[in-house]
Amino acid sequence: MQAETSGRRNAVLTVRSRSQPRFWLLELYDSAIGKKAVMAVTGIVLLGFVFMHMTGNLKVYYNDGGERLDHYSEWLRDAGQPGIPHEWLLWGVRGLLAASLVLHIHAATSLTMLNRRARPIGYQGGRKYAAANYAARTMRWSGVIVAAFVVFHLLDLTLGTTNPDFESGRPYHNLVASFEREPVAAAYIVANLLLGMHIYHGAWSLFQSLGLNHPRFNHWRRGFAALFAAAIVAGNVSIPIAVLTGVID
Ligand code: HEM
Repeated sequence: MQAETSGRRNAVLTVRSRSQPRFWLLELYDSAIGKKAVMAVTGIVLLGFVFMHMTGNLKVYYNDGGERLDHYSEWLRDAGQPGIPHEWLLWGVRGLLAASLVLHIHAATSLTMLNRRARPIGYQGGRKYAAANYAARTMRWSGVIVAAFVVFHLLDLTLGTTNPDFESGRPYHNLVASFEREPVAAAYIVANLLLGMHIYHGAWSLFQSLGLNHPRFNHWRRGFAALFAAAIVAGNVSIPIAVLTGVID
């Protein structure tokens, strides 16, 4: 009875897919290669943001009581003026980032399901990864924890919901107030270390997903991924440590 129902459902799907040609991008997204390409392209957008954000945050080290960081934050809101109204460009970038994040997570989840369907029993003696290392094996978990961190981070430093000393328009004051609480600073440090692992494997594998994979260049890929991840982690982790040690206050 169940087999009959699923047979009928498959027949309906087949008829529907034959009679309604779909947009080629959606067809491509149905395949593992399409999903990997989406992960790579959205990954590049997110890596670009994380790098720019880290370099922007380094303005805390000007030792000017946060003047440059606060001014930078204001400039981001005014970007494009007078041609583009206040905050419109910022909202455009936020939209692009949010769409990239959603697509990145969706592609990752559906790739996992596709792999499970293709190999429901699993690999004998454990899976052997092409770039077999800890970062590669923990991509799913590091991704989930970093996503949870981003939610907390927005509540902490953008909306101020979890930051009792939050003052709108004063990011320097807010981040110092936040990192003075040791458990919060520790959470930032752990999340950024996991982000570093995620970036290391992500930056390495995105070349492969885009077909830029040749044994002669693989050591460059590895070097680039390691350097990029290390720069992000060092820049980001240094800030809560600088607050905890009183280097910035
Ligand atoms: C210790 C490291 C970090 C520090 C000190 C930091 C600092 C800040 C600050 C001060 C803001 C508020 C900016 C403003 O209101 O103008 C902010 C916003 C934000 N941060 Fe971070 N951040 C860190 C790490 C990260 C990481 C690792 C991510 C992503 C994985 C991230 C994603 C964001 C996002 C999406 C926003 C909101 C931007 C917006 O739309 O206004 N941050 N961060």
